[in-house]
Amino acid sequence: MTATIASPLTLPCGATLKNRIAKGAMTEGLGDARNRATEAHVRLYRRWAEGGAGMLLTGNVQIDRRYMERPGNVAIDGPQSNEAIAALRDYAKAGTANGVHLWMQISHAGRQTPALVNKEPVGPSDKALDMPGAQFGKPRGLTGAEIEDVIRRFAFAASVARDTGFTGVQIHGAHGYLVSSFLSPDVNTRTDEWGGSLENRARLLLETVRAVRKAVGTDFPVSVKLNSADFQRGGFSHEDAIRVASWLNAEGLDLLEISGGTYEQPRLVGLDDMTLHPEKAETRRESTIAREAYFLEYAKDIRTATTMPLMVTGGFRSVAGMNAALASGTMDVVGIARPLCVDPEIADKLLSGAAAETPAYEKTLRLGPGILGPHSPVNLIKAMNGWGQQGWFCLQILRMGEGKNPDPKMGVFSAFRNYAKNEAKTASALQR
Ligand SMILES: Cc1cc2nc3c(=O)[nH]c(=O)nc-3n(C[C@H](O)[C@H](O)[C@H](O)COP(=O)(O)O)c2cc1C
Repeated sequence: MTATIASPLTLPCGATLKNRIAKGAMTEGLGDARNRATEAHVRLYRRWAEGGAGMLLTGNVQIDRRYMERPGNVAIDGPQSNEAIAALRDYAKAGTANGVHLWMQISHAGRQTPALVNKEPVGPSDKALDMPGAQFGKPRGLTGAEIEDVIRRFAFAASVARDTGFTGVQIHGAHGYLVSSFLSPDVNTRTDEWGGSLENRARLLLETVRAVRKAVGTDFPVSVKLNSADFQRGGFSHEDAIRVASWLNAEGLDLLEISGGTYEQPRLVGLDDMTLHPEKAETRRESTIAREAYFLEYAKDIRTATTMPLMVTGGFRSVAGMNAALASGTMDVVGIARPLCVDPEIADKLLSGAAAETPAYEKTLRLGPGILGPHSPVNLIKAMNGWGQQGWFCLQILRMGEGKNPDPKMGVFSAFRNYAKNEAKTASALQR
């Protein structure tokens, strides 16, 4: 029988998702000054849980508070206080209401740790991001012992997720964060067993998957988010991604989520090059099955090399496109993220037929026509537009955390400014 967005899906570990729509991970920035979960997570995830999706991925939860993606992340990196455990339990309870799965995405930001969090991030090497502005410091290459520590931290955070009521975990292996940067020959220039050949570059990811599986057991969903490619010349290629996916398949993964790009090449949200050297950018292949889906062509190749369930995230906007992608047999779960910042109940509407498409917000998200668009050659404006858009979605999430409705009329320039202010304020309040 052909799967549609309404079909349930049973995963290799035995867990069943009630339908094929999953909310993609989105950083919330709602952690408190000690990076614990808060009442705002409870409000936000209760709303998303009631919104109809079969599975919700949390925003990236950090395994090391020194290297977070944002000052307001939740971090699980040591013994948890009773308060922290209670907050996670409340969060998990709210996000699993309505028979929904709630999977915790666990991550280490690596060289994409903003200077607001740490001016001296770490990575596979000392290669810094090639981006305008001074938002990211020059990283230091991790030692072998520190890499082993990273693996232990992933496993620890996963066990806390399970113990507190989350119903799955996802290792963030995409978007240029630590695990993803290890996969890239452009960034990972190590000469030890963690660098060089693809086998070595993928060692951190594979060892992490094994450690996490050991920590949570065989009956608990374990997922990875992987780039279909980095879209940067000399970076993690699509051919690399196919091989890594086949190795992950052999590890008995429950769901592989396919995305693509990094901060330098943010194809994950449909944006182009953000670097100081755009000549190194690679273009993305368009899908012929569902034109709206950014990474479907890449998923097709991964499908032929694997048997595990696949989720594809990025660009899905219509029921027709989602169902065509599922019917093609290329993938099993449709990931949607940004539309859920504008309409948290959209999954229900798509499933019931009350809506055929997600709400259109793209027009609001342009700083201005022509030179101010995402393809502007002016680096600073390009960066402002990119971060302004990101800020726009983040501010909608903060609104929902406060119990308010999203404000689709919000201007992108004011979002850029207010988001920056919010991040600085959150960083200065941190109790480290
Ligand atoms: C505000 C925002 C926050 C995000 N945070 C995360 C994150 O924490 N982890 C992650 O893997 N992806 C993150 N993403 C990427 C989304 O999960 C998704 O891959 C991307 O938005 C493309 O899907 P869409 O076109 O349905 O929005 C984020 C995207 C946005 C817009």
